[in-house]
Amino acid sequence: MITDEIYEHLVYGDARFSSMPALVPDLADRCVVVNGVAKTYAMTGWRVGWMIAPADVTKAATNLQSHATSNVANVSQVAALAAVSGNLDAVHEMKVAFDRRRLLIVDLLNAIPGVTCPTPEGAFYVYPSVKDLLGKSIDGTVVNSSSELAGVVLDKVEVAVVPGEAFGTPGYLRLSYATSDQKITEGLARMHELLGSAS
Ligand SMILES: Cc1ncc(COP(=O)(O)O)c(C=O)c1O
Repeated sequence: MITDEIYEHLVYGDARFSSMPALVPDLADRCVVVNGVAKTYAMTGWRVGWMIAPADVTKAATNLQSHATSNVANVSQVAALAAVSGNLDAVHEMKVAFDRRRLLIVDLLNAIPGVTCPTPEGAFYVYPSVKDLLGKSIDGTVVNSSSELAGVVLDKVEVAVVPGEAFGTPGYLRLSYATSDQKITEGLARMHELLGSAS
């Protein structure tokens, strides 16, 4: 079993993160845990991650990786070491900001007629349903899928969202709230104005 624990520190409200091999140590020899600095330490782009796995799996992965991508740049490794050796104060600060942005974006999305957004308990994405908007005309264009809707939103109001088709679940949009409160407010105001005119 492979678990991607990259968002382990970004959980909100009553949600608690747990790691499978920590909860059930007997399963450890069948677990592969992957993680990295990109989210916890806001180090996207440094390209540093790690894997915790049974020794034979790690050895095979190391052989594969050393031929496929060679190694992580030394400067990135030193930066990552500094990040994981420090405390989590900065992470907790970011979490407070993400938590606020999460509630903000959910409220702004649910205020748009035809959009229904559950409140996420982790990471920094929302995944609203836009099914009630499909088949409607938006600023002169009839949208029949979330993919078409994402295109219309990008073209008309220059807000980038990922359509649910990319995740195998059409009828939804994915928006990231890893951006400023001000940009979230501006982007959602533009979407509200556009989508609010659907008929
Ligand atoms: C679930 C998940 N795992 C891993 C990553 C990526 O990490 P990295 O930037 O280290 O490739 C992301 C980033 O988008 C993610 O959403």
